[in-house]
Amino acid sequence: MILSPLLPLLLDGLGSPVPVPHFTDAEVQELGSGGLVLRDGALGHPLATLLRARLEQLDSRGALVPAGLGHDGRLIPALRSDRVATLEELGPDPVLEAVWAWFDRLRQALIEATWVGLPRFSVQLACYPGGGARYARHVDALPGDRNRLFTAIVYLNPDWRPEHGGRLRAWVRGQPMEVDPLWDRLVIFRSEAVPHEVLPAWVPRYSAAAWMRGAEAIPALADPDVVRRRVAGQEEG
Ligand code: OGA
Ligand code: MN
Repeated sequence: MILSPLLPLLLDGLGSPVPVPHFTDAEVQELGSGGLVLRDGALGHPLATLLRARLEQLDSRGALVPAGLGHDGRLIPALRSDRVATLEELGPDPVLEAVWAWFDRLRQALIEATWVGLPRFSVQLACYPGGGARYARHVDALPGDRNRLFTAIVYLNPDWRPEHGGRLRAWVRGQPMEVDPLWDRLVIFRSEAVPHEVLPAWVPRYSAAAWMRGAEAIPALADPDVVRRRVAGQEEG
């Protein structure tokens, strides 16, 4: 038997077939103009099932911790009440490695489709534990901060129903729209272009999010005072 050299692209490290992400021109245009791109069946059922089980396991043994806000990571549960861990923080694990590899392919698909340089990414697992857990309206990156260019979230809630809450509300070109956090659904948007919030969740809500990052963060541009000084400097000269 001859093994096609393409085969490894279609298998995760666990030997299950995994969908290969791809974007159409219309989707690239939608991302560029501040819209959302959705994809159901993102990870494929086998990997999504493994990841969901792993998330529950990690959360039940306390590996996910309350998420903070802003640069100083303040805990304000009234504004943000999910529990999170980055894949880098969690030890070696074949399921998490397969998830990492999938997001890496997503990163490559975004580079090919958009021509934006995305040399780095990070992945965070999240659980909104229910009881009204939410995340108030925010953007994932300040304008000009190339640290986070695209946000990609996969939802892992197999039996989601409207009364469970936890919808993503996003403002697309100023208009609010809502996304149901359905099983194996991927949503992607430009991190600085789309304000969004997680509406109160009444049952545990699980997800994995990746931030695709530029070549280097430009912290100076993310600091409003520095931006003001630069703009003033440009005006002078
Ligand atoms: C975030 C976030 C949205 C979601 O983690 O920054 O906004 O739907 N998540 O999980
Ligand atoms: Mn966000």
